[in-house]
Amino acid sequence: MASEFWIFGYGSLVWRPAFAHSEAIPGFVRGWARRFWQGSVDHRGVPESPGRVVTLVPDASEPPCWGMAYRVESSAREQVLANLDHREVGGFDRLELEVHFRDAKRSPVRGLVYVASQRNPNFLGPAPVEEIAEQVRRSHGPSGPNSEYVLRLAGWLRAVGAVDDHVFQVADQLCEGEPERCEGGPETR
Ligand code: SIN
Repeated sequence: MASEFWIFGYGSLVWRPAFAHSEAIPGFVRGWARRFWQGSVDHRGVPESPGRVVTLVPDASEPPCWGMAYRVESSAREQVLANLDHREVGGFDRLELEVHFRDAKRSPVRGLVYVASQRNPNFLGPAPVEEIAEQVRRSHGPSGPNSEYVLRLAGWLRAVGAVDDHVFQVADQLCEGEPERCEGGPETR
């Protein structure tokens, strides 16, 4: 058995993995679009008022979806996956996808990715950006305000030089008219 395995995060896992790993490298998957289409009733919302978090939806026309690839020792596999399965219990399934690294000389790896499909009961699906931002603005759950989730994700993407129009549009919409929500203004969040 290999002495390590990889986990690829594209949502909260990019800034708060909360599991032991021996490497964390920005990377991407192809053929998937990141969308705020998954309802969150346990982290960034509550059952009476779900928040919106990202999931991946198959879309071959999209540019690469950037996230963070984590190398994890196989000895920690059971514990790490049990914790993540619990954290992502609100509708996410584990898939195995090919993960590419920013350094193209490094060979791609197979990575485990948590994806919420449209079959899960919390799936919300598409909505206009303004509606998504409005839902995010009013949602709050045990892990904190939904807006923090969006702004942290947008901030992480900007910090690694990655572009995701959907995430940036929702973040910009959130900040519009409320610059105090986005400390430092749009360029630094
Ligand atoms: C992920 O981060 O990879 C999964 C979605 C989330 O927890 O936000």
